Amino acid sequence: MTNVYNTFFNHMVAENGCKWQSTEPSRGTSSLTACLGVQSYATARGASFRGHNTFWHSQLPSWLPGSVTASDLVTNVIPQHVQQEIQGMGSNVTSWDVMNEIVGDGNDWPTKASDGSGTNLVTDLSFVHAAFSTALKYASADTRLALNDYNTGGNDAKTACMFAVLADINANAAVPYDRLAVGFQSHITAAPGQFSSKSALAANFAKLAALGADALITELDIKLNSASSADERYQAAIWGDYLDACLYAANCFEFINWDARDDLSWIGAAGAGTLFDTNGNAKPAAYEVAARL
Ligand code: XIL
Repeated sequence: MTNVYNTFFNHMVAENGCKWQSTEPSRGTSSLTACLGVQSYATARGASFRGHNTFWHSQLPSWLPGSVTASDLVTNVIPQHVQQEIQGMGSNVTSWDVMNEIVGDGNDWPTKASDGSGTNLVTDLSFVHAAFSTALKYASADTRLALNDYNTGGNDAKTACMFAVLADINANAAVPYDRLAVGFQSHITAAPGQFSSKSALAANFAKLAALGADALITELDIKLNSASSADERYQAAIWGDYLDACLYAANCFEFINWDARDDLSWIGAAGAGTLFDTNGNAKPAAYEVAARL
């Protein structure tokens, strides 16, 4: 495992260790051990590190949902938490997912930034503004502040909503575009219609570049539709397209796959969504990536 990391990866993220549940297990306490552990693992191997995340509706600390009023959240809880985490992790962070999955489709707590259609800003975004303005205050000047989400990257309503939320943050939290980024999680499937085309990704990245913002591929995994060598080659081709879109864009500096090998993957080994199989052997997608490095 260590071998795979050392030879293939030069950029890392904690899968769970920097989530709010882990970093503030009881209100007001700071517990950065797990998050710092991944950061120092990366640094010791000459890899850079990104922060994921200061807010997600999932993996929240158990004390939070239900016990905090909206105004307490905006005025106290979010600013204190974001400051604590971002300051505590220091400057050696390429980007922070300040907000994870706020554009979307559920009834999650405290509520996402759009309704299910992905186009309509229905909630009060003041907790988003509070998080971003706090992040701007405490992050180092070259750490990008990201909005990170899934099922984005195409010419679709949810991606349009991401741009709308980004503009809202720029306007109402006073975060300059050259500090902002959009993270495209990219949990996709190797099947027609289940991923974004290279040209759609490139168009979105160019739109962000025109604003002065960055584009990041933050959590790529590509689930196989069937366990066949044809689908493994399809997976490799899609992987190559996503990487090309990033390499050819001057504002795409981060490209991360979620989980290093199939047996460790959150989607399960059967999804075979990563670059390395359950024995740690390189799959066609890994060769496709290696050919571009
Ligand atoms: C997942 C982790 O991989 C799992 O270990 C955990 O149980 C749940 O969260 N989008 C995200 C990530 O932003 O934080 C999620 O990670 C995967 C989906």
